[in-house]
Parts: sequence; structure tokens; C-alpha cells
Amino acid sequence: MRAACYHRYGGPEVLQVEDVDLTQPGTGEVLLRIEAAVVSATDAIMRRGRPWPARMAMGLIRPGKPILGTEFCGTVEAVGSKVERFIKGDRLVGASGDSFGAHAQFILQKEDGVLAQIPPAVSPAEMLAISEGALTALPFLRDGGSIRRGMQVLVIGASGSVGTAAVQLAEHFGAVVTGVCSAGNAELVKSLGASHVIDYRSEDFTKGSERYDIIFDTVGSSSFPQARKVLKPGGVYLTTMLSLPILLQMLFSSRSRGQRAKILFAGMREPKLRAKDLRYICDLAAKGELRPVIDSRYPLNEIRRAHGHVDGGHKVGSVILELH
Ligand SMILES: NC(=O)c1ccc[n+]([C@@H]2O[C@H](COP(=O)([O-])OP(=O)(O)OC[C@H]3O[C@@H](n4cnc5c(N)ncnc54)[C@H](OP(=O)(O)O)[C@@H]3O)[C@@H](O)[C@H]2O)c1
Repeated sequence: MRAACYHRYGGPEVLQVEDVDLTQPGTGEVLLRIEAAVVSATDAIMRRGRPWPARMAMGLIRPGKPILGTEFCGTVEAVGSKVERFIKGDRLVGASGDSFGAHAQFILQKEDGVLAQIPPAVSPAEMLAISEGALTALPFLRDGGSIRRGMQVLVIGASGSVGTAAVQLAEHFGAVVTGVCSAGNAELVKSLGASHVIDYRSEDFTKGSERYDIIFDTVGSSSFPQARKVLKPGGVYLTTMLSLPILLQMLFSSRSRGQRAKILFAGMREPKLRAKDLRYICDLAAKGELRPVIDSRYPLNEIRRAHGHVDGGHKVGSVILELH
């Protein structure tokens, strides 16, 4: 099979399309023919090997997992013995988590991994784009923020893949949503459910008069000390971006009943919980309550261009890599 591989950290030029052996499914495994996968901001970080936590996951000197990509959609090509939940031909969406490997034409997954049937009303690429951000935004808002109806929620990076999902999910949970994005993306963010939009290029959200129950920074462009100025007493600051300060702020604020800071690692949760979330996300997509935001699509042989675009930090929703 063909796959996008890398063997050293660096810019998009370290990626190349190679022939890789295809392994047949073993006991409890399914082999998926991948139709499309996402090229995410996390893939770009793992390719660069920067910031430093990337190397804790991938290898200190060189990457130990040559194929990037975690979210994918495709069709079951073959099943191993004792597989009961899926049959050949099933259309699935999935996430391989820290084993990566989705930027390839085929992937092996455990049948009890993070896999779900794609609802008939949604196309595979649309379901893929919806799942990319929602698999992160859902645990952040629901578990990290204990989101409830009527809460005021601020989503920073509201036009990215996590942000577009966070705006839609917060609205689904009955919150009043403010999105922070640039002026060009304001209409999109409003159409996803934000009642208000703040243009980060001309306004500073920490200087506004509104107070929030949850501030969810999906792109790591703010800090807890700044954001707490507009956080309600007892409010929660959530960030996707790992840093030493956020770990210390989380430790110290967790002991207080006041404002708290939290980081979650959505991709490292138990596969059973993530699979349950993925089924829930598929149900919402089937009902039309979550819609896809697709930035662009690239064929496998343009993997470097896809990474270069993600590196720019301005994609709107998901970048899709087409594999078949
Ligand atoms: N902790 C976890 O569990 C977890 C899970 C998944 C992802 N992540 C991390 O989460 C981060 C975000 O992922 P993503 O895929 O959502 O990113 P993304 O799609 O690449 O985000 C790009 C978007 O962010 C906007 N943006 C950039 N700077 C901004 C700013 N200062 N204020 C507001 N918006 C800004 C851009 O809009 P403009 O073009 O208008 O600037 C663009 O639309 C990544 O670093 C990823 O590694 C963490």
C-alpha cells in the first residue's frame, strides 16, 4: 500500500510517499481501506517534533511511528477471527489515537477501538470532518467544563477544527456562545451557532464587559492569568495546548473553589469512552445538529502541500487527505 511517511523531524519536505507492507487482520482486528483522513494541527506538530511534548509521544531523536494521521473514514476490507461488531463493506469513521497510521491506504484497528458506523445520511468525508474537532471539543466542554444550558461560553479559535465543533456543541448544550476569530470568519462562526463574535485582530476579549462560565482556548493563543479577568467566579478556563505554566495553574487552581484552569488530552482517553463519544457524535451528525467545515482536500501525493497549509495556522475547519 502507499503511505505518507517521515523518518526525521522537520518541515513538510521530510514527508514522502512510500510503499509499505500491508498486514492482514489478526484476532479481533479489522482492516480498513481508508477513503480519506484528516491532516491535523497535531500531525503538523508531530512532524516538526516541536513543541517538546511531541517528542515524548513520537521519539526523542527521531520519530518512531513513520506514518502520521489519526482520524480517518473508510470501508472494512477484511476482518480477523472473533470479530463480531463489523463485517466486510461496513462504512466506518475512526480515530487511531497515539498509534497514528491513518495517512495510508489501509489501516488495522482493533474492533473495540475508536470506530463507528457512518450514518447513511452523511458522506464519509463529512463525517470525518465533523468527528475531527468534535472528538476533542466534546470531552473538553462536557467533562472539563461541565457545560449546562444558559452558560456563557467563549470559544477562542472558533474557526479551526476544534473551534468549529466547540461552537456547535456548546450551542447544542444550550449555552450562549461567543466566538473569537478573525473578521473574515465571523459569518461562518455565527452560522454555526455563535450569538456574538470577537475579532481577535482588532479587539481584546479580556477587555470586554461580558463574563464567561467557560473559556475554551482551542488554539493556545491566550493564558489563564489574562483570561481569568473575564471568567466568572467558579468559571473554568480550558486549553488544548500543553505547557509547563498550564500544568502548574491546573494544579494550584484545582484546590480552590474559584476560577480553575484545565487541560485535557482527548486522544489519550480510554478507547471505550472515545468510541462511545464517536457514536454520539455520529448520531448528532445524522440529525443535522453538527455540520462539517472542510477547508480543503489534497490527494496523497500532495501531502507536503497539505502539511504546509496546516502549518500556516489559518485553516478553517478540516484539511482532508484523499487516499483512494
Ligand atoms: N489537548 C488535546 O486533547 C488536543 C486535541 C486535539 C488538538 N489539540 C491541539 O489543539 C490545537 C488546535 O487544533 P485545531 O485543529 O482546532 O487548529 P486549527 O484548525 O489549525 O486552527 C486554525 C484556526 O485558528 C484560528 N486562529 C489562529 N490564531 C488565532 C487567535 N489568536 N485567535 C483566534 N483564532 C485564531 C485561525 O483563524 P484565522 O485564520 O482567522 O487566524 C484558524 O481558523 C492544536 O495545537 C492541536 O495540536 C489538542
